[in-house]
Amino acid sequence: MRKKLVAGNWKMNGSLTENTALINSLTRQQSRFKTVQVALIPPFPYLFQAQQLLTSTNLSWGAQDISTEPQVGAFTGEVSASMLLDFACQYVIVGHSERRQRHHETDQEVATKAKIAIENGLKPIICVGESLVEREKGETLSVLYRQTDAVLNTLSLPQLQHVILAYEPIWAIGTGKSATAQQVQEVHQALRQRVAAMDWVAAQGLNILYGGSVKPANALELMSLPDVDGALVGGASLVAEDFIAIIEAAA
Ligand code: 13P
Repeated sequence: MRKKLVAGNWKMNGSLTENTALINSLTRQQSRFKTVQVALIPPFPYLFQAQQLLTSTNLSWGAQDISTEPQVGAFTGEVSASMLLDFACQYVIVGHSERRQRHHETDQEVATKAKIAIENGLKPIICVGESLVEREKGETLSVLYRQTDAVLNTLSLPQLQHVILAYEPIWAIGTGKSATAQQVQEVHQALRQRVAAMDWVAAQGLNILYGGSVKPANALELMSLPDVDGALVGGASLVAEDFIAIIEAAA
């Protein structure tokens, strides 16, 4: 049985004051979500705050990106794995579509980030997803396989066991329009089979999260699908009550 993971990607949201209120609301309710892993993914400047407030709770935390550079050095604006470990991060998102699009991250850069994360004991949440145009052209699976294969070909077999995939159709992100249960199950099953072709055991243990307009109203249906092992939540993770409802739907 795979334990589900519900991760809140705060994106570029939050402030010291707002974060304290949100985190306190979540930790007050933590006894309600013992059977699910929960992670908060704030912007880099708030990792120290997350560590302070979340140590000794049931909640984990992580970062939204990591450098492709394995060592610290002259890389302005970048954040290394060692820095994330200084704040006891367990997770790091790599290849979010907002970074692939806005910062032109390539499949290979995303794969390299995943590898560096794993080599440092971090669990990468590797995002893959197609655009609306790609879906309408019938290219969904070929795009997802291209993105996933870059990772599969970069990691060693033992490293595959530490991977978390997140299927985030770009057209469903922040639009209020989630993919349908059938679309999600179809993709998740295909992604698991793709990994199984490399390593059957890793595929059985693989957490594949769904992300894209997950909210209390659709969480139960999505979280009940056989190949959905949790959620990567954007907007709804900023509202304690909504995020808790999604966690409970995954429990
Ligand atoms: P929304 O839940 O706001 O659609 O964002 C999804 C997402 O991009 C999570 O990484």
